[in-house]
Amino acid sequence: MNPEKIFIGVAWPYANGSLHLGHVAGCYLPADIFARYHRLIGNQVLMVSGSDEHGTPITITADKEKTTPQAIVDRYHKEQTENMLQLGISFDLFTRTTTVNHEAAVQEIFLDLYQKKLIYKKSIDAYTCPTCARSLPDRYVEGTCPHCNYPEARGDQCDNCGKLLDPSDLISIRCKLCGSTPVKQKTEHLFFALSGFEGQLQGWLKDKTFWKPNVLKFTNNWLAGGLKDRAITRDISWGIKVPVFGFETKCIYVWFDAVIGYLSASKEWAKMQHTPTRWQEWWTDPAAKTYYFLAKDNIPFHSIIWPSILLGYGHDLNLPYDIPANEYLTLSGEQFSKSRGIGIFVPDILKRFDADVIRYYLAINMPENKDTDWLWSDFVAKNNDELVGTYGNFVHRVLTFAAKNFGTIPPAGTLTPADEEALGKIKDTLHEVGGSIHDCSFKKGLRAAMNLAQFGNQYFDKNQPWALLKTDKDRCATVLHVCLRIVQALAVCTAPYLPFSSERVWRMLGHTQPLHHWEAGLRDLPAQAVLQTPAPLFKKLELTEIVTPSDPFAKLDLRVAKVLDVQDHPSADKLYILGIDLGPLGKRTIVAGMKPYYTKEQMTGKLIVVVTNLKPAVIRGIESKGMLLAATDKAAGIVTLLNPKDSTPGAEVGVDGIPHEPVPVLEFDAFKQAPMIVDAKGEVVYDGKPLKTKGYIVVPDQPVAPGATVS
Ligand code: MF3
Ligand code: ZN
Repeated sequence: MNPEKIFIGVAWPYANGSLHLGHVAGCYLPADIFARYHRLIGNQVLMVSGSDEHGTPITITADKEKTTPQAIVDRYHKEQTENMLQLGISFDLFTRTTTVNHEAAVQEIFLDLYQKKLIYKKSIDAYTCPTCARSLPDRYVEGTCPHCNYPEARGDQCDNCGKLLDPSDLISIRCKLCGSTPVKQKTEHLFFALSGFEGQLQGWLKDKTFWKPNVLKFTNNWLAGGLKDRAITRDISWGIKVPVFGFETKCIYVWFDAVIGYLSASKEWAKMQHTPTRWQEWWTDPAAKTYYFLAKDNIPFHSIIWPSILLGYGHDLNLPYDIPANEYLTLSGEQFSKSRGIGIFVPDILKRFDADVIRYYLAINMPENKDTDWLWSDFVAKNNDELVGTYGNFVHRVLTFAAKNFGTIPPAGTLTPADEEALGKIKDTLHEVGGSIHDCSFKKGLRAAMNLAQFGNQYFDKNQPWALLKTDKDRCATVLHVCLRIVQALAVCTAPYLPFSSERVWRMLGHTQPLHHWEAGLRDLPAQAVLQTPAPLFKKLELTEIVTPSDPFAKLDLRVAKVLDVQDHPSADKLYILGIDLGPLGKRTIVAGMKPYYTKEQMTGKLIVVVTNLKPAVIRGIESKGMLLAATDKAAGIVTLLNPKDSTPGAEVGVDGIPHEPVPVLEFDAFKQAPMIVDAKGEVVYDGKPLKTKGYIVVPDQPVAPGATVS
């Protein structure tokens, strides 16, 4: 069979933060498993990606750190490149979008489309923030959702009701960065004529029935809504310059730039190989298959925008063949997020565990068809039961026994039907693992490999080589030979998943060349090689040794405060402005929406509970330095303050067993990580434990139904 050409494009990570496990499970690991398998079966693979280094978030990170965007992307590109290597993600090239090569490729395509009038000028309303002196991308304009009244809707979408929005739809808009009111201005931008590609896209998608249902669904939803032309220039100075007169001060939209990376990186790779036209083997040969690995939020960019750019550009470049996008990996049900600091970061976890151990759990728990959760207890259990207990144990007992009693690979004598069955099982497993990876069913493939390890243990136990050693050494040799064949097959079929340990097992068998063919799983063993007693492949883990990151509740600074005075907010009819006393922490002002529930007199002099380290927020023009806590019983329409009984202003409020380690500035999302409710006893609890202050248990001021939320 002729080798196939397989192009693998993997979503380019933004270079403004560390990679987290969500990225790895979402696309890098599946792409790598796929690439390694195809290389092993002799296909010609080109796998590329790189750091996505443009866009507003990077400039904002730079501003926050008082440095330049270049310094930020240099730092994270270096870290991401290292992490990919450490994780064994076997890119042919992991480059970046700030190369001259990439800029040239993007500008060439841009100009080509411009000349074909597929990119055209149009004047639009854009928002700028006078305080921050920057133009605001849609998602940096926030306000109240016109559909559901959610006060924190973004200009592109409302996270509460899910409706797509335009910034001008929002009621009382504010700048996400500083809270002041953005102003609208007419600006000229260049638009990509996406709407014209609807028909061609529909035609191309017709035979894509083998795509994952979620990918088809996202794509068809976009198409069903009708494609709109999209602005592909931005008022920003960090990015690829627009190669059109009059647009010198603008840059190309980061997504338009990034997707072209797949092509520019292929060209860069070819140049580096001193075969500058070789990229064409994957891009212009219609028999080549191009795969794109990404997480679900990137689907339309790869199934609609990138194909449209390719169609517009022409030159018969291959359109995506498959886009096996994954769902999300979550942590206690929350989506990993760089910007919100939620997640397990790759540089941290690599310090604690071997790459294969991380790869194993991510692969066996991969969010292929639904979101899956990273659970530390499950990570430990799978490591101990499956990697150590099943695979590691089998390899270890077989190799130790063979090294000790034979010294070299024992030859096989006459095979019994059970031995034949075992060899048949090897063949079937390689077939099944390979077929599953081919179909991007990575979990299924790994399970099949692990079944072979389990089968191996059973075969070993049933045949009792330790007993045969004394009674029938020839039979013992045959049994061991079959076991070693299983070990070899395991090294092969786990190679795409666990490349580091697979290579170790391969060498333990006495091979002197690296493992590089899938068929090697069926071949004879190196008869002459001297076997050594091997070191164990994997280590058992104890859940208690795994330092669980400190509890989210520990980050909160909850204090008792005394309300000194209450005023009406001048421009909001539900808000009070409260002067509060925090004892040794001093006095400050907070804004609270308590007017519908308490009179001024009822509130004045009261002891309440306040989150003092919550990021200050400007609420309708008044800065609030903290947030008071109240319990909400939606059904009964009750909102009632938390009552710290006879505690004193400034006293800490906490729960037993969780240290008080408040962060200097608590983001609202971090606050939401520590949900408090009212329990059946009428006590305010976090994680089932009552909130206490100076020995008093905190309760709502007024009784509420169990389950009432506190915020
Ligand atoms: N940087 C984007 C993200 O992290 C992905 C870009 S994929 C590319 O969501 F193809 F456009 F590069
Ligand atoms: Zn601003």
